[in-house]
Amino acid sequence: MATVIDGKAVAQSIRTEIATEVRILSEKYGKVPGLAVIIVGNKKDSQSYVGMKRKACAELGIKSFDHDLPEQVSEADLIKEVHQLNLNPDVHGILVQLPLPKHINEEKVLTEISLEKDVDGFHPLNIGKLAMKGRDPLFLPCTPKACLELLSRSGVSIKGKKAVVVGRSNIVGLPASLLLLKADATVTIVHSHTSQPESIIREADIVIAAAGQPMMIKGSWIKPGAAVIDVGTNAVDDPTKKSGYKLVGDVDFEEVSKVAGWITPVPGGVGPMTVTMLLKNTLDGAKRYIE
Ligand code: GUN
Repeated sequence: MATVIDGKAVAQSIRTEIATEVRILSEKYGKVPGLAVIIVGNKKDSQSYVGMKRKACAELGIKSFDHDLPEQVSEADLIKEVHQLNLNPDVHGILVQLPLPKHINEEKVLTEISLEKDVDGFHPLNIGKLAMKGRDPLFLPCTPKACLELLSRSGVSIKGKKAVVVGRSNIVGLPASLLLLKADATVTIVHSHTSQPESIIREADIVIAAAGQPMMIKGSWIKPGAAVIDVGTNAVDDPTKKSGYKLVGDVDFEEVSKVAGWITPVPGGVGPMTVTMLLKNTLDGAKRYIE
C-alpha cells in the first residue's frame, strides 16, 4: 500500500513557520506582509478559493487587501486597479483570480502585475524564466511549487527520474513540467490529444495529475512504487452529502493507492499546500522589500 502524503499536516507545519516569520518581520521591521486579491464576478468556485486565501492570510497575520469587482468591469478599469496596487507600498503580492470573464484578456492583465509582486508566478516573464536553463523566476507558481514541496518532504528524489505530467494548463500542467525539468527529471506531458496516455503514464516514477477529469487515472496505469500527486479537485454528485456533492481527484485513489509508493489524497493533499505556497510567496515578496 502507498504512503498517503498528508498535505494538510505538511501545510500546517509550514504555516506555523510562516506565522513566526511574519511576526518577526512585523515586530522588528514594522513591515506587515500584504496580499491583494482581486476577484471579478460571482463565480462560485472562484469565490470559495478566494475565501480560503483571505482566511489563511488572516490566520497568519498577513494583511489582505480585498478587491471584489463586478462581472462587467472593463479591462481598462481592472488594469487601473492593478497599477494602483503596484504602487501601494503596503502590498507585496497581487493575485488576480482566474478565470476572468471572456471580455477581459487574461494575459494582458497578468502582464501588468509588477514582477516583484507576482506571487502567483503567472507573469509571462516569470514563466519564461522558469522555462530557461540557468534563470530563476522571482516567484514559482503555487500549485506546481506545492507538488514539488510534497515530493521533497516525502523523501522522493526527482533528479534523473521519469516524470509524467497529465494536463498542460498555464496554471498547473505547463509550469509543473518546467519545474520538474529544472529539478533534472526527464519530463513528458500527456494531454487530451495524446494517444494511449496510460502506456506513457505507466513508465513514470513520478506522476502529477492535473487534467480536471474525475478518477481518470486507474491502478493499472501506474508503475508499482511510483509517486502520484493528484492536483484534481472535481465536484461530483453525492446524494449522501448535505451539499449534494463531494470532491474527487483525477486519480482513482482506491485503485492507485494499492500500486503506488506515495499518493496524495483529495481533499487534504495538494489543496492546502497550494494556499500555503501563496502565503510563503507573499512573505518572501515582503522580505525582499527590506533586504
Ligand atoms: N484559478 C485557479 N487556480 C488559480 C491560482 O492558483 N491562481 C489564480 N490567480 N487563479 C486560479
